[in-house]
Amino acid sequence: MIKLTINEATYKLHVNPDTPLLWVIRDAVGLTGTKYGCGRALCGACTVHINGRPTRSCIMPVSAVAGQSITTIEGLNSKAANAVQSAWRQLDVVQCGYCQSGQIMSATALLTDNTNPSDEHINAAMSGNICRCATYVRIRAAIKLAAKSLV
Ligand code: FES
Ligand code: FES
Repeated sequence: MIKLTINEATYKLHVNPDTPLLWVIRDAVGLTGTKYGCGRALCGACTVHINGRPTRSCIMPVSAVAGQSITTIEGLNSKAANAVQSAWRQLDVVQCGYCQSGQIMSATALLTDNTNPSDEHINAAMSGNICRCATYVRIRAAIKLAAKSLV
């Protein structure tokens, strides 16, 4: 049995310890906001926060995060997260939406650490999140808009 803390709730789960966290979150816990894209840490669709740090859940064995604080898009709730989600809505960032929970998780982690990110900071934080709809220009503008509301 593995005990996980996800969005401040505790789950005791009978899962194979090698199962990627992504599948435990989606299939065992039923939180489907975190998406599967590549399964190889190349696209960022599966990004969650582990102790506040953006992490690719598709390659993270669930046993490695037992007892740590896991946050998914469903549980995101902080000043930075609210600013990001508000900016996303204002600028209508989303197209198909598939990549967007991962984008928002990465952007929130960035703005939690740095409320005045440069383009270089944004590039470094967001370059691992791929958007097949190419919403990159709106994502960058929304991060800047969210940052303005945090200072
Ligand atoms: S599904 Fe995890 S990085 Fe693509
Ligand atoms: S909005 Fe469609 S993949 Fe990003």
